[in-house]
Amino acid sequence: MVDRILHNEHMATLDIINRLEVRIGNGKWARRLDIAVPADKTLLEELIAMMESEVRHHLPFEEKVIFPKLDEVGFEDITNMLFDEHEAIRSLVSSIRPIANDALSGGFQEDKWTIFYQLLADLASIIVFHIQKEEMGVISRLQMLIGAESCQEMGGAYRKLLSGETA
Ligand SMILES: [Fe+2]
Ligand SMILES: [Fe+2]
Repeated sequence: MVDRILHNEHMATLDIINRLEVRIGNGKWARRLDIAVPADKTLLEELIAMMESEVRHHLPFEEKVIFPKLDEVGFEDITNMLFDEHEAIRSLVSSIRPIANDALSGGFQEDKWTIFYQLLADLASIIVFHIQKEEMGVISRLQMLIGAESCQEMGGAYRKLLSGETA
């Protein structure tokens, strides 16, 4: 079922954001990641992989497959708002990715770190807010809104897309 798959992706994203927040710091996001420390390097790699899969799979799938179905049942106002949030997420990801990728090999210099954690704090707050909205407004009642059969079909289509691209 597509609602279950998207829900699991949302939870995985929140998990990474929570761990970054705990590691970097108490709402201030200021404790610098040290890529010489394996746990820090892994966390950065997980962030990069998460941003990659958001931009390549999760957001486009919601926009191309889920939102049009929701529009059919009168959800245009909600999907328009969610789409705008996707654009904000994509824009932040495109700023964060090059800094994160550079840091994987060279670490974070002070100036880059300041930019990185400020952008990351913005990304975290938008994503957390966005996921709450999707979970409460859409995912929790998707089967009721578009039917269990559609959810099943879309789940199959999304799984195929994911496995095709990772193969
Ligand atoms: Fe979304
Ligand atoms: Fe989503």
